[in-house]
Amino acid sequence: MRNESDRRILILHGPNLNLLGEREPDVYGTLTLAEINRKLRANARSHGCILRIHQSNSEGTLIDLLHKNRRWADGVVFNPGAYTHYSYALRDAVAAIAVPTIEVHLSDIKKRESFRQVSVIAPVCLAQISGLGWLSYANALELLLEKKD
Ligand code: DQA
Repeated sequence: MRNESDRRILILHGPNLNLLGEREPDVYGTLTLAEINRKLRANARSHGCILRIHQSNSEGTLIDLLHKNRRWADGVVFNPGAYTHYSYALRDAVAAIAVPTIEVHLSDIKKRESFRQVSVIAPVCLAQISGLGWLSYANALELLLEKKD
């Protein structure tokens, strides 16, 4: 694993997260995706690490992004959106690339509808962090940077 200072992290946002800020603000908060990305870039800069950030509404594109970045990334912070709850294809992609991945959610999925309480992706991730708003991403980034091996 590279030193913290030159570690490379892929941040991947799934479906509907492009509408953050206007989408159900009572559930997801009022920050836009651009604002969240700006905060994450500032955090990464303070650690000297390098981020690639992508958002897609399409399962296939998310899979392609995981594949394409598999040799570049030392870690992945992934909010799979609703795919969390049923996409075996994304689960297989995370397992296939064998890059430490942390699943994140803005809302606390354990306290929401029963279908959201299940993640088919979390079992192949290092951890799941949910319910902290944009800080779910920030905590995941910290965790990946602190990882030793
Ligand atoms: C989400 C939770 C999912 O259940 C939902 O489908 C999303 C956002 C979150 O960040 O809280 O799109 O992943």
